[in-house]
Amino acid sequence: MTDELIDDFGRRVSYVRISVTDRCDFRCVYCMSEEMTFLPREQVLTLEELGLVARAFTELGVEKIRLTGGEPLVRRDIDRLVADMGALPGLKDFAMTTNGAGLGKYASRLREGGLQRLNISIDSLDPERFRRLTRTGDLNKVIDGMRAAREAGFERIKLNAVILKGRNDDEVTSLVEFARQEGVDISFIEEMPLGDVSDHSRAETYCSSDEVQALIEQHYELIPTAETTLGPSRYFRMPDSESRVGFISPHSHNFCASCNRVRVTVEGRLLLCLGNEHSVDLRAVLRRHPGNIEELKKAIVAAMPLKPERHHFTTDGDVQVVRFMNMTGG
Ligand code: GTP
Ligand code: 5AD
Ligand code: SF4
Repeated sequence: MTDELIDDFGRRVSYVRISVTDRCDFRCVYCMSEEMTFLPREQVLTLEELGLVARAFTELGVEKIRLTGGEPLVRRDIDRLVADMGALPGLKDFAMTTNGAGLGKYASRLREGGLQRLNISIDSLDPERFRRLTRTGDLNKVIDGMRAAREAGFERIKLNAVILKGRNDDEVTSLVEFARQEGVDISFIEEMPLGDVSDHSRAETYCSSDEVQALIEQHYELIPTAETTLGPSRYFRMPDSESRVGFISPHSHNFCASCNRVRVTVEGRLLLCLGNEHSVDLRAVLRRHPGNIEELKKAIVAAMPLKPERHHFTTDGDVQVVRFMNMTGG
């Protein structure tokens, strides 16, 4: 069997994002509705199934795995899962996207298990506003978590901030200043229309990366780089700091032509693009042929022609994908 995953547009898939739970201890306004309900446990992949999925992908040439959620650190035994995946041969970049609140508890165990990189979401440095944006989050716990991760030896920690006009766009410069002080990178993300979040009108809060960049450039020089983490971020350097500033601009600077990613949803659906519903049910394969990695690999290879050329997100405020972000972890 081929050991590479290539789609019909010649793009090689080398990066898999695996959602390990739809649950989260936060309820970020752009991600979930307030009264979100979660899946019953039998619909979610077991740790063993998740481990097999990760192995199948690495055997097919995937070099980068990112664990997402919901919030990955609320999944029971996440440290065991990390240690299992961390030992996979062929894995060169092993990362997690987290809200950071569980890092005080887990950072060293994750690092020991072989996790290499962490992206931590932080949309405001004002504790009350942070609480309003996350509905339940405690900013100080997240900052303590980030520092615990640094002490545990995680290098190149990256902060993620989704910028919403009128909600946190006035904090762009202080977020950069914070990243510089803490010695971490920061990426600014344009909000995407996944799920009916009903908290705000996405058309009204849309803030383009160019607007964010202009705000930052009032205070800091940003030098474009060709550096990449093999994700969607475009990175800039500042002359007097190790911290990088990234922009993830699904609306204003489409990056689909160089897409190298697929996702496995919390229910084990192999989703070929964040902005579409093309998918293959890996859970069905796993449960029809328990433990059979060859069947799984066959299903993954067969799914490649389903990968669409691009997403068709718009900024007009309509929900374009009914699935909420917490099913796929972004
Ligand atoms: P790095 O490995 O550090 O480059 O991380 P990453 O940017 O790939 O991952 P992260 O989980 O931090 O995602 C940041 C944002 O990018 C989230 O809002 C994701 O939804 C978004 N994102 C990641 N991949 C894609 C993609 O293929 N398409 C779209 N539209 N958004 C994406
Ligand atoms: N649009 C853009 N980014 C989002 N995230 C969650 N929901 C959305 C959305 N609708 C971000 C989180 C986290 C990453 C996984 O995706 O803030 O940093
Ligand atoms: Fe939780 Fe992340 Fe969604 Fe916020 S964006 S509610 S932290 S899964």
